[in-house]
Amino acid sequence: MRHLTDFPRLSLGCFPTPLQYLPNLSRRYGKELYLKRDDLSGVGLGGNKVRKLEFLLAESKNRGAKVVMTTGGAQSNHAMLTAACCNKLGMEAVLLLKRRGVDRPLGNLYLNRLLGAEVVWMDTDRYEDIYAEMARRTACYAREGKVSYEIPVGGSTALGALGYVECFRETMAQCMQLGIHPDRMLCAVGSGGTYAGLCAGADLFAPEVAVTGVAVDSDPFAQICRQLKLEIGGLLELERPLGGENVELYDNVGPGYGIPSAGEREAVELLARTEGVFLDPVYTGKAFSLLLRELEGGAFQNDKTIIFLHSGGAGGLFAIDFPGK
Ligand SMILES: Cc1ncc(COP(=O)(O)O)c(C=O)c1O
Repeated sequence: MRHLTDFPRLSLGCFPTPLQYLPNLSRRYGKELYLKRDDLSGVGLGGNKVRKLEFLLAESKNRGAKVVMTTGGAQSNHAMLTAACCNKLGMEAVLLLKRRGVDRPLGNLYLNRLLGAEVVWMDTDRYEDIYAEMARRTACYAREGKVSYEIPVGGSTALGALGYVECFRETMAQCMQLGIHPDRMLCAVGSGGTYAGLCAGADLFAPEVAVTGVAVDSDPFAQICRQLKLEIGGLLELERPLGGENVELYDNVGPGYGIPSAGEREAVELLARTEGVFLDPVYTGKAFSLLLRELEGGAFQNDKTIIFLHSGGAGGLFAIDFPGK
């Protein structure tokens, strides 16, 4: 078996991130509710991608890459954070972003500009087309004698997901220090790596903790996350494969990917107005609103302590409007 520390990893963020108790919401819902503050991960406006990039960019450095290409939607937090991390490392970031829906240079687009990242607009909705363009660029760079490194959407490879195996380990160590025993950890699912990493972490370090994912897009995440878990097990050279048994996914896509609902707005406002914490409109707002809805409906009855992973995304607040605002 290989340990997490056996993998090359760069220090890019500020870890451990805080595990924060939510006194007002805990009282309201009769549970012990905590936030794992990965929105405070210390690069850009923070967010979950920093942990993945610590592993992915270490690999890119070891391969001698000078250019890093990645992709996502126009408001991709992952792409913005890739550019921010590349700046720290003196590497060039090229962001191949889907153009659909872009009319104003707001939110993460504005931040990409501040970061000086090269943005290549892609007039396609299919990642296959974007990966073909990345491969074409890789060949061009190679002809110029430049090594480049490709990161798929969301950084959700098994190597990137190790960041969330580590996050689970880190969270359990914090729980031990605080003397608390979480029953459940919940996170948003956009490309699957964060959730698969947390599930793998639970399998390895605390199988009694349920890990729940909330899908904010309509991809086949159960299959994607099971596959990623298998690959994580392969990377870690585990004696027994990591199964898909603890994959528990809810769907809260609502009106569509990146389109907030009125219920989501209420959940985002509630956290801001009770605890002073901002969620984002694309990922954490949807996941948190599902958690509150389920609690109100009497779900998770046997759980006393629930940790919600705040995975960042603040840039989206300045680009995407909630309904009724
Ligand atoms: C703020 C935020 N939260 C959650 C996610 C979901 O993480 P993952 O892509 O690993 O499923 C993303 C990215 O997709 C994100 O940007």
